[in-house]
Amino acid sequence: MTESSETPRPGPDQAERTFAPAGGDVDVMAISPVREEGMLEESPPDTSFGPDIAAKARELAGRYPQSRSALLPMLHLVQSVQGYVSQEGIAFCAEQLDLSEAEVSAVVTFYTMYKRRPCGEHLVSVCTNTLCAALGGDAIYRTLGEHLGADGKPLGHEETAGTPGESGSVTLEHAECLAACDFAPVLQVNYEYYDNQTPERAVELVDALRRGETPAPSRGAPLSDFKSVELQLAGFFPEDEETFRADVDGPSQATETLRGAQLAADRGWTAPAMADDVPLPEVESK
Ligand code: FES
Repeated sequence: MTESSETPRPGPDQAERTFAPAGGDVDVMAISPVREEGMLEESPPDTSFGPDIAAKARELAGRYPQSRSALLPMLHLVQSVQGYVSQEGIAFCAEQLDLSEAEVSAVVTFYTMYKRRPCGEHLVSVCTNTLCAALGGDAIYRTLGEHLGADGKPLGHEETAGTPGESGSVTLEHAECLAACDFAPVLQVNYEYYDNQTPERAVELVDALRRGETPAPSRGAPLSDFKSVELQLAGFFPEDEETFRADVDGPSQATETLRGAQLAADRGWTAPAMADDVPLPEVESK
């Protein structure tokens, strides 16, 4: 069978035809069906990933028995440079790890922590999962969207108020459960927690971010900026680790977190040992 460049059409005569996978010389983005505006944008070539970043990438690859395992931290490294994963960043990772760009793209588009359009100086993630939503998370997200929007148009998911990367710019996103239901409703800024939020407190917080301030999170590390946190997520910390640890080792739990365990301790409750022959409880058939 000769190779054909025509677009395959559905029909009975297509069943026996196969098409070769995209090779290294094929621009995967060029053949993707829909290119949403702002996604996987091209960046100016050869300006972002200099020798220092390449050295960090090689260090990451060397941390694993199989270098491809370094892809997740390497994508965070890319975001620490550009504030998102650009097509250039995808090519960089592919080259470093001897992967195809399609393989890297598949990972980037699977995980929500990899951003496909440039992020602001701060990323504000509002939990709109069930518990937070019921306790006010939906109202917080809606209020922030309206507050940060312009020309009567609310800011949408993964959209930015201000110019991405510049001081005071804020990207808004809604998030699934942030594992802090005991403090619902919660939001995060650059993955640091702000507990027991209200729409009013959330507006005060983003206004402070827009002014260039960094209000202290409810617990954990002090607030920095999105790119700095991405470098830490890639596995790179300041040289003086002792000072760094002293800074970030804040309290990570509160009374609410330990309430159940405390009640059990006060009342002498313990979990019964599970016996092998305990039958499963009957459930109603549907
Ligand atoms: S539902 Fe919001 S932190 Fe769990």
